[in-house]
Amino acid sequence: MTTSEFFTRRFLRPVLFFSFTVLLLSCRAKDRDCIRPGEIWPDNNGVHINAHGGGMLYYRGQYYWFGEDKSERSNAALKGVRCYSSKDLCHWKDEGIVLAVVEDEPAHELTKGCIIERPKVVYNKKTGTFVMWFHHELRWRGYSAARVGLAVSDKVTGPYRFIHSYRPNPGIWPENMSEEDKSLDMEEASRLESWTPEWLEAVRKGFFVIRDFEGGQMSRDMTVFVDDDSKAYHIYSSEENLTLHIAELSDDYQSHTGKYIRIIPAGHNEAPAIFKKDGRYFMITSGCTGWRPNAARLLTATSIWGPWEQKPNPWQGEQADISFDSQSTFIFPLAGKKDAFVFMADRWRPRNPSDGRYIWLPLEFEDGLPVLRWRDSWSPAKAFKK
Ligand code: DGJ
Repeated sequence: MTTSEFFTRRFLRPVLFFSFTVLLLSCRAKDRDCIRPGEIWPDNNGVHINAHGGGMLYYRGQYYWFGEDKSERSNAALKGVRCYSSKDLCHWKDEGIVLAVVEDEPAHELTKGCIIERPKVVYNKKTGTFVMWFHHELRWRGYSAARVGLAVSDKVTGPYRFIHSYRPNPGIWPENMSEEDKSLDMEEASRLESWTPEWLEAVRKGFFVIRDFEGGQMSRDMTVFVDDDSKAYHIYSSEENLTLHIAELSDDYQSHTGKYIRIIPAGHNEAPAIFKKDGRYFMITSGCTGWRPNAARLLTATSIWGPWEQKPNPWQGEQADISFDSQSTFIFPLAGKKDAFVFMADRWRPRNPSDGRYIWLPLEFEDGLPVLRWRDSWSPAKAFKK
């Protein structure tokens, strides 16, 4: 072998091969779109985004993503609600903790170690106030308090001031509960064995509404929806997660007006995410299996006050029965585009909650109904080009 052959084999070829591979890989990386469902999503500091069970607010040209700041070990709130901002939905700036838990005050409702889930922020144009609602559980009480919490701020990125938390609509009947159902024989219903057809029938009639009438209705998984006419609604899993409620909020979005309905009684729905298209409301929910995924449900109505009708699972593909290992969180319209909606879901990691992943997908429509199909990566600019 000549010296030049030796040089080519030992040095030049490996160097060329290595450079070519690096070039190929970097081209591939550039080709991948910026939203990658299920992958680590680094913020401006290179840290995986910590905003689980989140919500989105578009305000003055920027998106603001609010979510649960989770730790590596516990689902309890050790810090509070975190916010990120972005202009393109791809690159996110950490705006820090915007609603902080209270340190060193064990008796405070928002004390460190309580549970704060699914925070949603809406902007009230009349008052110029940012209003945050969230699912709140008291420390050491598991999920038994089942309250909704309220916090407000004059600035989108906070700090948000905790006002209070409570069970909505005490002493008020749902609009769509019949007089006959209101007089259900509670003594007899209390003796029924859970999950029997008779018990489910009693639940359907409003057993838990009657049980919780005085103290207010349970409110766990939740979202807030602002309609075209600026009216806002609080939508939440009530009645031991068996029935969803839709409750009207006051004009300043800071209290419940007392008008509310029950939907899909005994349907066992969690994780409501709602949007409106062409005058029709769509809600994607999940069943109730704790942190484990299940098949999503699709509900639709032409009035927020119902009737709501159930349609087949919007997910398509091999893992549709477990929603591609995710649970719905929020749906928001893309700013400046018609009929472009982004679906947000969480892939929970209860053993290391902060490692939970985000499953964001563009909603597609078929025969007038929303459809979800998995994508390894996508970008808003391309997905909604039309
Ligand atoms: C499912 C809910 O959607 C989550 O927000 C959380 O409350 C878990 N259940 C708790 O098990």
